[in-house]
Amino acid sequence: MAERSSFVVVANRLPVDEVIVDGERQWRPSPGGLVTALHPVLTQHRGTWIGWAGGDGEAPEPFELEGINIHPVPLSAEELERYYEGQSNATIWPLYHDAVETPVYKRRWREAYRMVNQRFAQAAAEVAEEGATVWVQDYQLQLVPAMLREMRPDLRIGFFLHIPFPPIELFMQMPFRAEILRGLLGADLVGFQQRLAAQNFVRLARHLLGLRYEGQSIQVDGRKVKAGAFPISIDTADMERMAADPKVQARAKEIRAELGDPETVILGVDRLDYTKGIELRLKAFRELLADGKLKVPDAVMVQVATPSRERVEHYQTLRVKVEREVGRINGEFGKVGMPAVHYLHQSYSKQELAAMYVAADVMMVTPLRDGMNLVAKEYVACRSDRGGALVLSEFAGAATELRQSFLCNPHDPDGVKDALLRAVAAEPAELKRRMRVMQRHLRTHDVAEWARSFLNELGVPETDAAPD
Ligand code: ADP
Ligand code: F6P
Repeated sequence: MAERSSFVVVANRLPVDEVIVDGERQWRPSPGGLVTALHPVLTQHRGTWIGWAGGDGEAPEPFELEGINIHPVPLSAEELERYYEGQSNATIWPLYHDAVETPVYKRRWREAYRMVNQRFAQAAAEVAEEGATVWVQDYQLQLVPAMLREMRPDLRIGFFLHIPFPPIELFMQMPFRAEILRGLLGADLVGFQQRLAAQNFVRLARHLLGLRYEGQSIQVDGRKVKAGAFPISIDTADMERMAADPKVQARAKEIRAELGDPETVILGVDRLDYTKGIELRLKAFRELLADGKLKVPDAVMVQVATPSRERVEHYQTLRVKVEREVGRINGEFGKVGMPAVHYLHQSYSKQELAAMYVAADVMMVTPLRDGMNLVAKEYVACRSDRGGALVLSEFAGAATELRQSFLCNPHDPDGVKDALLRAVAAEPAELKRRMRVMQRHLRTHDVAEWARSFLNELGVPETDAAPD
């Protein structure tokens, strides 16, 4: 029987990667912001992290890694297709991102979503001690809070949504909308990235279920469910340290040299996802080259597009479109040995990404909609030289905080081009001033502070929350 814990995290993915050493399966921690932030709380409580280990079929037995109990939950090949690729990433993901791609609704996907959420809830019910705190993460597991409360009314349950929460009119499209909403209302605290998202949620509770609310607090079955905004962040100090490492600095110089030492390096780093606005950014660059406002080889673009959700149709179509646009730009504006766009459909180490951030004069973050966008924050944290300019979409959660970036409306191509040109032309003194303000903000608003503020609001005593 698995060890019981007083603090349990439930997330779709486990914070571990599988590695094969001498033909034997081993696990190593995967370096994510969430696990970094929660590590102190988890180790303090011999906490448990419940999640999917990747792959299909039987799950590995629970094990301990660096003071955290890892509790894998299995997914069959069919569940992967229906719960993860289908309901989570072809229905909920597009709908919650302003339906920038058309959401697909299928009954068998909903069934699988229910079954898998039940499995995660069951696992949490089994490992949580009497009166424990359980923190459920993200859109893949929205039914878990209510399912868990039903089984274990003694628990303190938090839920955090990492992606946007849509306005009422969009949410109402969802065929099992009331069930999702009731699922979330099983929590004591529901956290969002933005204040507007929390407002959408409380208004929806009244609209759909006729529930009363006061401020951000909803009355449900004689309980109070609080909603609030907790903008997630990065491990700022760690990112700053990494970027200042002489090896990363040297690698940044090397990258610029490999690009032919251009005057302006423009960078994009995203999962290859249709919400990220990769195509519109490429188009803006192409039009500026065509207008003669930018020239190859003085300006080059590097676009890192991390492979993601590759079996979902929307993602396959996007890949074709992006690669066609890259081909078009290079065909029209590249020279022998000098492409205009360097397109990299690969994953990189955090160090290599940091070197790219340091090497880039302009970082383009242009999502059509994004819950937060940590890449924007990572870029700012890496620029201890206070050089570099961030072009940022108003539709990224990060835009609420990073006001000194070059903000743009990604739906307006001329606005994007204008922001990019202003960023390219900005004086070093102006860039320094902008970076200084944003860096100061990120030092006090890091991921540990995010976890601390959520857990405090949930009522986990201060001493138990993540220390600095
Ligand atoms: P999302 O959660 O939608 O993928 P974010 O920008 O919030 O978007 O977070 C992306 C995270 O993935 C960042 O921490 C970023 O450093 C990392 N990342 C992005 N591209 C790569 C890549 N090619 N290799 C490794 N890590 C990547
Ligand atoms: O930010 C949303 C999110 O779904 C995270 O939960 C996840 O870590 C990331 O995007 C990557 O997605 P996936 O787990 O589907 O590869």
